Amino acid sequence: MWWFLSAKKSIIIAEAEMKLLEENAMNKKTIMDIDLTKKRVLVRVDFNVPMKDGVITDDNRIVQALPTIKYIQEEEGKIILFSHLGRVETEADKAKSSLAPVALRLQELLGTPVKFVPFTRGEELETAVEMLKPGEIMMFENTRFEDIDGKKESKNNAELGAYWASLGDVFVNDAFGTAHRAHASNVGIASHLPSVAGFLMEKELRFIGGAVDNPTRPFVAILGGAKVSDKIGVIENLLKKADKILIGGGMAYTFMKALGYEVGKSICEMDKIDLAKDLLAKAAGKIVLPIDVVVTKEFTNEAKSRISAYENIEPDEMGLDVGPKTIKLFKKELKGAKTVVWNGPLGVFEFANFAKGTQELCEILGAMKDAKTIIGGGDSAAAAIKMGYGEKFTHISTGGGASLEYLEGKTLPGVESLNDDEGCSCGCHH
Ligand code: 3PG
Repeated sequence: MWWFLSAKKSIIIAEAEMKLLEENAMNKKTIMDIDLTKKRVLVRVDFNVPMKDGVITDDNRIVQALPTIKYIQEEEGKIILFSHLGRVETEADKAKSSLAPVALRLQELLGTPVKFVPFTRGEELETAVEMLKPGEIMMFENTRFEDIDGKKESKNNAELGAYWASLGDVFVNDAFGTAHRAHASNVGIASHLPSVAGFLMEKELRFIGGAVDNPTRPFVAILGGAKVSDKIGVIENLLKKADKILIGGGMAYTFMKALGYEVGKSICEMDKIDLAKDLLAKAAGKIVLPIDVVVTKEFTNEAKSRISAYENIEPDEMGLDVGPKTIKLFKKELKGAKTVVWNGPLGVFEFANFAKGTQELCEILGAMKDAKTIIGGGDSAAAAIKMGYGEKFTHISTGGGASLEYLEGKTLPGVESLNDDEGCSCGCHH
């Protein structure tokens, strides 16, 4: 049976990618393990997409959820989609947080109708579910509209989870981006129904989990972004697992300061200097810091800049990108790596003049054909996609906070609540 299902799955997920996926273990049941035909399938997606004036500015999370939706359509399940969008605290927040534009975008991408129901409970929603035919798709309104009155969604209110669960027969969780939250729309529903991972959730767990828990070595991690304090857990966990950790971005200056160097006006967390010293001591040479940086006197794209050795930053200068010698050094450290996990840009990539380090890193990683290259979500994922490298990586996570917590080695409640896969006895690796 497995080969038959597997062949079907390969229609949706390219065969090469499937092979890679299967190299990494997965201990949760997936959408392939349950019967969906004519079932009311509740599908939690993370369509918390960036929007500007009601227009979606990055639809990657919607695109990434398509294989699961298409598969359920082919299996003739009745698809009930839902997600949160932003934070909804007051009635006024509702106007800018409707999922209606997201349903429209999904409809465009799928080329089939997506019925949008502008409610999170009640008769209209229940009737829409009742009317749904096999293969049809509906989406209901932002789950966080239920937060206005007592944070019911975000506090995993038992009545709300039970109510949403009553609308379906099975639950498919494809919202990896929300897996670090224990909310009614993921953990709550899962306590009432057979609950499995969708393809995107499966992909995220296999790639990120596989890279961290069972990496093909050498395993090199690259960490950037503004603050050390955001990534303490990740650095500590990766120090145990990775062979090297290359550090760039704003957080590098706290480490440079810890080593006693002048960092001028560069971003630096003075209260984390001791921690940085500790981490460097624990790392015993595993941590690689920038050796040159691009410095300027003003935080603007147009500011005049110069390349400085890390020990020559002037008191009135700030580092906004890594320099060419650092890129060369990072390239050397990455040579021969078989697994690479990257989280956090190497510079202020939002300013075109300080995006070079991040762009060159994309170029280096994109060319590493013998390595699994994984971007752990957030700003580095946005940067790689914006710079046109979206297709060049083995996997770009759709999770921000969720991938960070996963890289820290934490248990994610949204994953934990899915049914365990005890395996089967037929000898397959299912
Ligand atoms: C995210 O974008 O990280 C997820 O959608 C979770 O959103 P939240 O931080 O508002 O819970």
